Amino acid sequence: MKKKISIIGVGYVGLPLALRLQRQNKVIAFDNNEKRIQELKLGYDIFNDQSKVKILKSKNIKFSNDVNDINNSDFFIITVPTPVNVDKKPDLRALISATKIVGKNLKKNSIVIYESTVYPGCTEEVCIPLLEQISKLKINRGFFCGYSPERINVGDNLHKLEHINKIVSGSNKFALKKIYNLYSSIIKAKIHKAENIKVAEAAKVIENTQRDLNIALINEFSIIFSKLDIKTDEVLNAAATKWNFIKYQPGLVGGHCVGVDPFYLTYKAKQIGYIPKVILSGRNINDKMSDYVFKTILKNSKKIKINIKKSNVLIMGYSFKENCSDIRNSKVYDLVNYFLKEKIKVNIYDPLVNIDHLSKIHKKIYLKSLKNKKKYFDVLILAVPHRTFIKNFSKIFNSIIKKRHYIFDIKSALPKNRYFQDTL
Ligand SMILES: NC(=O)c1ccc[n+]([C@@H]2O[C@H](COP(=O)([O-])OP(=O)(O)OC[C@H]3O[C@@H](n4cnc5c(N)ncnc54)[C@H](O)[C@@H]3O)[C@@H](O)[C@H]2O)c1
Repeated sequence: MKKKISIIGVGYVGLPLALRLQRQNKVIAFDNNEKRIQELKLGYDIFNDQSKVKILKSKNIKFSNDVNDINNSDFFIITVPTPVNVDKKPDLRALISATKIVGKNLKKNSIVIYESTVYPGCTEEVCIPLLEQISKLKINRGFFCGYSPERINVGDNLHKLEHINKIVSGSNKFALKKIYNLYSSIIKAKIHKAENIKVAEAAKVIENTQRDLNIALINEFSIIFSKLDIKTDEVLNAAATKWNFIKYQPGLVGGHCVGVDPFYLTYKAKQIGYIPKVILSGRNINDKMSDYVFKTILKNSKKIKINIKKSNVLIMGYSFKENCSDIRNSKVYDLVNYFLKEKIKVNIYDPLVNIDHLSKIHKKIYLKSLKNKKKYFDVLILAVPHRTFIKNFSKIFNSIIKKRHYIFDIKSALPKNRYFQDTL
């Protein structure tokens, strides 16, 4: 018999999961954002592409913002955002509100799975007590719970949901088995059974914390090398010839995962009386990289006698990383604001980003096209090296850049020795 599965939060994580699960089950894709549900009902996913990706319509999936639809589900899978607030502390409002909605709709033996990224202990300390309180059912007697972190990578067409190894955990053996079986039915890659929920939660946050720190280290190298007047990419290429050197790139660390998840771990560490030094130090370096990039551009353009205050500056790429449209927590936002604060004439161009989203943030400076900007820009910053930029760079360059110019290629993505370009 088909299971009834409710996905709570149909965003980047929830939608692919819902679409995959509906092949064998009856899925309620529930989201409290009415506009999102209306678009999905029409068959469009505007999160993934500015031209709106057409998604399937199937009788096995119901997109809904009516809480009554999720009632009596066999499984509830919670995939709501878990950002940080201005103090860089976990903002659990969406998680708590989703948990309350689920709590009201639990039936006996329902299984609740959390996929949202949280700190170790959050599911058992915050979510399960709330589910018990609202449903009046007891964990492992009236209902079951589990945690299974998501690892999808926005803009990555290679690592799709079913090909990514999955971690599962459960509130007891029974829950673990049921959750394992559910994911086994849709995932072709390996499924790892974590010893308990806390282990699975911790595994997720350390994956992104490790990446954040590795990039922070390389960012620090690049600051030192700049002062030593040596090129970071040349040093990295040389060092990478050693078998155990891991080649990361310097850059801006934005997005809703790598730049955010470490704060979940540091919050929990502080709560139990340990002040993390290495993790916070890395976060601090990465958070200041837009400021460093801005100052480097000011300093180095001056060296080649380009007066940036009188220049037209173009920032190419705005999403938080290449080849995707996601602008959440993009550090290019900070970079743009440094230019605006100094009253420097700056434009932004990113054909991958949804125009409505970007024009709301940067109404006057966002360019829909570069057509009317012939030989217009003195300074070009390749902030996010989308494939389309790299492929067409010489055409773009010849068309919009003045003879005397300065290029800053944040991620060293342009071919070497073709243009004079500065990098991190
Ligand atoms: N996007 C990724 O690549 C990725 C990868 C791994 C893990 N994660 C984690 O997965 C979680 C979800 O991330 P996302 O990128 O899919 O977020 P998202 O913002 O794309 O989607 C979340 C959806 O949840 C909805 N929502 C918020 N509160 C709700 C509520 N109370 N009830 C119902 N719906 C609600 C929102 O309207 C939104 O559509 C986060 O914890 C994130 O850290 C994301």
